[in-house]
Amino acid sequence: MKRFEGKTVLVTGGNRNTGLDIVERFVNEGARVFMCGSSEESTAKGTDALKARGLADFVPVPCDISDITQVSTLFDAIEREAGRLDVLVNNAANQGLGHGGPLEMKPEMFLDVFKTNVFGGFQVTQMACNRFFMRQETRGVVVFLSSNTAKRAIRNRTAYCSSKGAINSMVRALALDLGPLGIRVNCCAPGYIHTERWDVLDPATARRRRLNCPLRREASGADIAGVVAFLASDDARNMTGEIITCDAGCSCQHMPEDVDC
Ligand SMILES: NC(=O)c1ccc[n+]([C@@H]2O[C@H](COP(=O)([O-])OP(=O)(O)OC[C@H]3O[C@@H](n4cnc5c(N)ncnc54)[C@H](OP(=O)(O)O)[C@@H]3O)[C@@H](O)[C@H]2O)c1
Repeated sequence: MKRFEGKTVLVTGGNRNTGLDIVERFVNEGARVFMCGSSEESTAKGTDALKARGLADFVPVPCDISDITQVSTLFDAIEREAGRLDVLVNNAANQGLGHGGPLEMKPEMFLDVFKTNVFGGFQVTQMACNRFFMRQETRGVVVFLSSNTAKRAIRNRTAYCSSKGAINSMVRALALDLGPLGIRVNCCAPGYIHTERWDVLDPATARRRRLNCPLRREASGADIAGVVAFLASDDARNMTGEIITCDAGCSCQHMPEDVDC
């Protein structure tokens, strides 16, 4: 059974890595999917990647989600081409890599990360609600991508970890206010995901990271897409304000095995 037949889905950051797998999952489950990267060039690359996977039922629209004018243009395109929106996946993220530690990093970098991850996610969600969900008899569903680093920090990623913590709080706050209006807001918090960045790890680091996980594996993008699709589907119709961790058991341990022996 295709759970999203006749539905329209928007996946931000759907143009590379995990975003591609999320787009693929919704297309394969019957949805028409709008996807964006932050620029024309990155969105075009994503289009090529999705076509190479044999997918056709998706619409690429470049959009920097931190820019309200571009967000508005994206929603104009959805209005024009689909006339409705059923699911919003806030997947786009600034990873905040290479900032250095909290004593050295430029404070503006903090704002940069928040502008995409927190502010961007909020303004896309607000527009989805006002322009579509609140006007439709069948309201909409929002799924955010957070991270297990919201609860267990990683080194030299102060802005990123903080932004993911803010997303967890925003998910609960939105769920509280939007639940009575019929809109569900949930979140998937991944741990390690096998992306292009994982591909270039040296084998010893990859092995150590896997040893850090009770299940001894990183997630595939498809693993994450499965959780996102579940939260977006009617199978999760009694859930809102929920943060589902998908990290191969990483967060349930006190210490990784190589330390704890
Ligand atoms: N990878 C992991 O191990 C991991 C672990 C935990 C949580 N997560 C979370 O899971 C999600 C997917 O992770 P990922 O590693 O696949 O992501 P990624 O490779 O870092 O890709 C980020 C995506 O967000 C887009 N993006 C960044 N800034 C944007 C902006 N201002 N406007 C619109 N799009 C923007 C990028 O588009 P461009 O191509 O245009 O830059 C790209 O498509 C993210 O929310 C991430 O934080 C990932």
